Amino acid sequence: MKNASLDRSESSLRSDGSSSPNRRGFLDYLLGTSALATLGAILYPIFRFMSPPQIIESTESSVVAAKLSEVPINSGKIFKFGSKPGIIVRTEAGELKACSAVCTHLECIVQYRPDIKHIWCACHNGHYSTDGKNISGPPPRPLEAYKVNTRGDDIVVSKA
Ligand code: FES
Repeated sequence: MKNASLDRSESSLRSDGSSSPNRRGFLDYLLGTSALATLGAILYPIFRFMSPPQIIESTESSVVAAKLSEVPINSGKIFKFGSKPGIIVRTEAGELKACSAVCTHLECIVQYRPDIKHIWCACHNGHYSTDGKNISGPPPRPLEAYKVNTRGDDIVVSKA
């Protein structure tokens, strides 16, 4: 009894010809949007990877890089100067020096090594003096030098 009523309802759906195309159209729509979503999910990360990020160049000409107490004698500290890193060095004589921390060879971040008392790049063993002059290894140019002043306990670094 139930099968007979189902057959009748199916045959009525097919006989008017409108129900089947709607179902097919709906399935086509579903498959189409799924394919588009999949394509978008694949292409969007590729597009984001290929397009460079928007980096707003800093217009800052000076920053408070650190407190004096944060940079003891014969040490260095990396600080942020706009979007780029800088390095402050306090020499054994107590002099404060600052320069860009971006190695001029292949742009690794340099560091201060108290054992050899100068700035060093770990990537390819590049050496710089505390003034940022390239003294050995592959770096082709000196590090960009900054001016250093103190204001109370603040170390203020500005572009030279
Ligand atoms: S990146 Fe610094 S020495 Fe090569």
